Amino acid sequence: MEIKVTGGAVLDHESDLAVLAVCEDASLPQSVAGLIEPKDFNGKMKKALLLYPGSAASPRRLLLIGMGKPDKVRAETLREVAAVAIKEARNLQADAFSFGFLDQPGLDAEKTGQALAEGFEMGAYRYLPYKTELKDEEKFSVSDVTVYSKDEKKTGTGLAAGQIIGRGVAFARDLVNGPGGKVTPAFLGEEAEALGRNLGLNVTVLGPDQLVKQGFGGILAVGSASVNEPRFIVMEYGKASEKWPTVCLVGKGLTFDSGGLNIKPAEAMEMMKSDMGGSATVFGAMQAIAELKLPLHAVGIVSAAENMPGSKAYRPGDVVKSLSGKTIEILNTDAEGRVILSDGLFYAQRYKPDAIIEFSTLTGAMIIALGAHASGVMATDQTLADRLIAAGEESGERVWQLPLWEEYHEMVKSEIADLKNLGGRAAGSITAGAFLAAFVGDYPFAHVDIAGTGWLDKPNKSYQEKGGQGVGVRLVVEMLNNFKK
Ligand code: BES
Ligand code: ZN
Ligand code: ZN
Repeated sequence: MEIKVTGGAVLDHESDLAVLAVCEDASLPQSVAGLIEPKDFNGKMKKALLLYPGSAASPRRLLLIGMGKPDKVRAETLREVAAVAIKEARNLQADAFSFGFLDQPGLDAEKTGQALAEGFEMGAYRYLPYKTELKDEEKFSVSDVTVYSKDEKKTGTGLAAGQIIGRGVAFARDLVNGPGGKVTPAFLGEEAEALGRNLGLNVTVLGPDQLVKQGFGGILAVGSASVNEPRFIVMEYGKASEKWPTVCLVGKGLTFDSGGLNIKPAEAMEMMKSDMGGSATVFGAMQAIAELKLPLHAVGIVSAAENMPGSKAYRPGDVVKSLSGKTIEILNTDAEGRVILSDGLFYAQRYKPDAIIEFSTLTGAMIIALGAHASGVMATDQTLADRLIAAGEESGERVWQLPLWEEYHEMVKSEIADLKNLGGRAAGSITAGAFLAAFVGDYPFAHVDIAGTGWLDKPNKSYQEKGGQGVGVRLVVEMLNNFKK
């Protein structure tokens, strides 16, 4: 899809389809107001009305979309409105449309452009590779959007950035939606190598032999029963420098989580191809960071394995030695994410990072706590947590902080090993976070639990679809845009 910017007003220019975004109770220009009954359209958020203006305005078809109250318009409003626009255009089989505001919102023009492009890209997303019969609307996609703006330059800059971010989200969604039998650890390794080739990232993929040699005990234990052997993946963008920060992004890449010997019941296993959602965030974010050429050193680290039962499986009662040398008593093989992440997080320390931000579909307890409306964040450094919270508000990917007090760290200490992988039912998400914090040394660390946000059975926003969300990509890019050493 091509997204362009131009000056002027959308109603004055000829087009097959023009979309006009209108706030609640705004007075429409006479040419448009004359075409409708006032009751037909009130500008309420996401309400749409299609008009055929004839000679009253230049566009052949005019779609009004409501943006709600003018003082409530945020970047998130624009993402949703843009997604409604693209979906309506698709239903109208318009392969090109123009988009403009009746009154440009009071937001910065660059932010406006970015939010619109994110909304267009995310709203256009569908996952159809396995459908052998497509409906007409599934065969059709919009190829051109022209945005009318008073500030072409800034809007254009924002549109270009938003499109890169939106494509990063789509990349992450594709990985999450891909079946576990296709998106294996080896497949993730190949995706990393392709990113390396296309964007000049320095990529390392370690397979089982190297993992054994170098002592990645956590990843090896979790992946031991699967024919889809584990991988450890590192994607490096830029170089360490005094001028900019080094940030490690670490992701849980459980390409399928059956629970292992502590096997999950059928309903809980159904969507466990999505247990690599944290790694998808890292992939999508690394792609966007490189395409945006952000001034920083970013290292994407993915621990990838498949958790299966079988005679080679790791068992409850086993003690695993992680890359750090610390020992982990396994009490439940379904609490495997923290076990593979222990290796990835310890590995991150070698970059002496200014921040380690880790994403994982780590605990079912997170879904109980926050549902789908925020990811949970736990951090060893309050400045880092505050940065993520602020970026969450701005990017529309909210995070909510949970504490990591000393008492929680006590709850994951083992009697026979250094740590145990189960802290009990109470505070299940926090004890998982406390476990992870044992592997990051003194580096500022934030753990983002996306169990409730990474996959949706029912979308909440117009830019979402059922399935993988690519959550965290917008959050990371927003945070890193403002991250100075
Ligand atoms: N991958 C799951 C967590 C999860 C559950 C993510 C539902 C998304 C949706 C994780 O590996 C897991 O199974 N966690 C267990 C931990 C328990 C055994 C301590 C859980 O949450 O039940
Ligand atoms: Zn599990
Ligand atoms: Zn899992």
